[in-house]
Amino acid sequence: MTFAIIVHGGAGAVAPQSLDARKQGCRAAAEAGHVILKRGGNALDAVEAAAVVLENNPLFNAGKGSTLNCEGRVETDAAVMDGATLRAGAVAAVSGIRNPIRLARKVMEASPHILLAGAGAARFAREQGIELCDPAELVVPAQQQHWQREHGTVGAVALDAHGHLAAATSTGGIFNKLPGRVGDTPLIGCGTYADGCAAVSCTGKGEDIIRVTLARHAAWLLEQGVEAGAAAEQAMRHFAKRTHSQAGIILVDRGGHVGYAHNTPNMPICGLTPEGRLLWEA
Ligand code: GLY
Repeated sequence: MTFAIIVHGGAGAVAPQSLDARKQGCRAAAEAGHVILKRGGNALDAVEAAAVVLENNPLFNAGKGSTLNCEGRVETDAAVMDGATLRAGAVAAVSGIRNPIRLARKVMEASPHILLAGAGAARFAREQGIELCDPAELVVPAQQQHWQREHGTVGAVALDAHGHLAAATSTGGIFNKLPGRVGDTPLIGCGTYADGCAAVSCTGKGEDIIRVTLARHAAWLLEQGVEAGAAAEQAMRHFAKRTHSQAGIILVDRGGHVGYAHNTPNMPICGLTPEGRLLWEA
C-alpha cells in the first residue's frame, strides 16, 4: 500500500525574509508525519504530529505565534477528522492550550461531541490532562504581528498504508477578530474534512470559506473522479468566483495523489508523494 502526506503553513503574504524558514518549518512538519506513515502508523497520528510541529513554530499562525484578537489575546481553533470512520473533533475560541490540535483529537476520542468551545473546552482540557500554558506564552514579539495579519492557519492531510485518510487544521484565526469569533478551521466541511475519498485542509478568510463549505466541496470533486490537482484548482476557482476572496487548499485522495492550490501571494507547503518525492511551493 502507498502513503502520502502534504502540509501547509497558511495562505497569505509572507515576509520575504521568513520564506525559507517557513518552508523549512513545513518540511519539518511533513517529515514528522512521514516518519509515522513510513513505519505503518495511521494517518490521524501523522496529521496530528505534523500540526503539532507547526503549532510549536512561532512563524505560523497556530498555537505559539497565533494572531491576536482585538483585545490583544490569542484564541485558537483546531480540528481533526478521521476519514475511515467520519469521526471528528474540534475546538473553538480556546485560550491557554499549547497544542489545540491535541485537544481537538481528545474531543473526538474522549467526548460524545464534535466541537467544544471557549470555557467548556478549557475545562475539558484540564480534565483530560491536555498541556495548558499561560496564554501570554503563545504571543510572539510584536514585530511579527504585521505579517501574521496576512498569513493564517496550518494544516496537514495524509493517507496511510492501510488506506485511511485524515485531516488536521489549526489556527489563531484572523487579526483583530472579535473575542469569541470562530472561523472555518473547526467547522467540519468548511476548513477541515476527511472521508473515504479525500482529506482536505483549507486556509484563508474563514468567513468566506464557510460560505462555500470549501473542504467538502473539494472532497465532492474527488468523489466525482476529478484528479487531485484539478480538484484543488477547481475548488479554488469555485471559491474565488463565489466569494471574490482569497484562500488556499491542500488535499490527498485515496490513491495518495496530492493536490494544492491558492490565490494568495504565498502558501508554503511541503508534500511527500507516494514515491517519496518532495513538493515545494512558496
Ligand atoms: N482560516 C482561518 C480563519 O479564518 O480563522
